[in-house]
Amino acid sequence: MAIRNIREIGEDILTKKCKEVTEMTDRTRYLIEDMLDTLYEANGVGLAACQVGVLKRIVVIDVTGEDPYVLINPHILETGGEQTGSEGCLSVPGKSGIVTRPNYVKVAALDADMKPFELEGTELLARAICHELDHLDGHLYVEKVEGELTDLKPVPEDEEE
Ligand code: NI
Repeated sequence: MAIRNIREIGEDILTKKCKEVTEMTDRTRYLIEDMLDTLYEANGVGLAACQVGVLKRIVVIDVTGEDPYVLINPHILETGGEQTGSEGCLSVPGKSGIVTRPNYVKVAALDADMKPFELEGTELLARAICHELDHLDGHLYVEKVEGELTDLKPVPEDEEE
């Protein structure tokens, strides 16, 4: 297990479309472990594989710090409602911005054993799912920000994602 280098806005790889995962290999297993390590090290809520330089449709999300979800080849089945709030990204360090997202999301994905499952989320989890799935298609939240990006305060009393 290892911490991987998080790619930052301006790097080409963050604008590319990630590829479907067709089989679980040791290499992909290590990638997922490293993504979780990297997520926790950075105190993040979610991380997509492209953010550590790998163009695979894999995201890890943990909104509580103790209950990680691994989503492989995720796709949205259903959305509902709307929430407008502050959002950040490990690839856009020190910044946040206001983004409107669905307040409810249901996704289908494969887990780390390539078994299909569905995940429903509201509020922060719904926001994180939408944010991470955008990464898989080469999109950053800054494209959706209402108004300007703001600088995060140095004290981490965090709303950060
Ligand atoms: Ni992000």
